[in-house]
Amino acid sequence: MISWGTLPKPIIALSPMADMTDSPFCRIAKEFGWPVVFREMVSSEALVRESAKTLHMAAFHEEERPLIQQIFGKDPLIMARAAEIIEKNFAPDGIDINMGCPVYKIVSDFNGACLMKDPARATAIVREMKKAVQAPISVKIRLGWSDPTECLDFVKQLEEAGAELITIHGRTRAQGYSGVADWEMVGRAKQQVSIPVLCNGDIHTPEKVFEALKISGCDGALIARGALGCPWFYQHYAEIRDTGVRQTEITPAFRADVVLRHAQLHMAEYGPRGITTFRKHLSWYFKGIEGIKSFRTELMQVNSMERLQELLAQFVADSGTASGI
Ligand SMILES: Cc1cc2nc3c(=O)[nH]c(=O)nc-3n(C[C@H](O)[C@H](O)[C@H](O)COP(=O)(O)O)c2cc1C
Repeated sequence: MISWGTLPKPIIALSPMADMTDSPFCRIAKEFGWPVVFREMVSSEALVRESAKTLHMAAFHEEERPLIQQIFGKDPLIMARAAEIIEKNFAPDGIDINMGCPVYKIVSDFNGACLMKDPARATAIVREMKKAVQAPISVKIRLGWSDPTECLDFVKQLEEAGAELITIHGRTRAQGYSGVADWEMVGRAKQQVSIPVLCNGDIHTPEKVFEALKISGCDGALIARGALGCPWFYQHYAEIRDTGVRQTEITPAFRADVVLRHAQLHMAEYGPRGITTFRKHLSWYFKGIEGIKSFRTELMQVNSMERLQELLAQFVADSGTASGI
């Protein structure tokens, strides 16, 4: 079990991302040293119904530890029961509550960021979950529903209810994923509590981690989109921390090797149809590389492991030629 208060600081962790931070991605990420990973959110109601698919989503391999499982829901007793089920079946190192998701399907049913509008319900969820499980309870929030100062009081209430760590995405629900994350406001919220607070939002390169921590004064950061197609993000961060610059060069062969091993884990997890769902990772792995438009189009149509292997071999070979990638 994790002890947020005594972990070495700054705490740099992989942020929960639905459909992305599943077991195969977390296993690949762990190879690059991530100290903690947050797995994608799962529904408390589905857990309580004992949905086999949802239970499978929360399963993990030992090498993913320390691992935090995130759950979402609106009913304190169902959230407590779901936490119990998670703890009994999988015993993750911590359980996180989603109070930041802005998606209509989630907030229209009073889940996710909607809980920021109802602190009494939000704190009841934390309290009931604390009573139900041993695992430390953390909460991931936004700056507010529409007013970015809402978090200043909300974090105090969460701490009082027993939350042991809070992550703040520096945007309001109204902002969705646009606009710039306000690390300064995250820092103001951090000042309101004595539990560790992690800064989140727009930390898209390892270099930005240092800037976000300096501005927010937070105890660490959760990295989301910056880690997609870039599971080595943490390794680069650690290299900059220790030597001032990135050391590991991401050559085409290096990239192809990581992609292939991730694809193999993904296929082992999801079966032959996994090749289609792996395309979302492929688009992140090859994002922003110049001169590979037609290669990218072919990647997005890949329909077998053999074809993926061929394309990756071609990517590596072409990168060594004058007209290369
Ligand atoms: C594809 C995707 C899925 C996400 N799913 C979750 C989720 O399951 N739980 C959660 O708390 N946040 C989720 N988020 C939000 C991220 O964890 C993070 O808070 C947000 O992307 C801001 O960080 P970034 O600018 O570094 O991406 C998701 C984001 C993305 C892009």
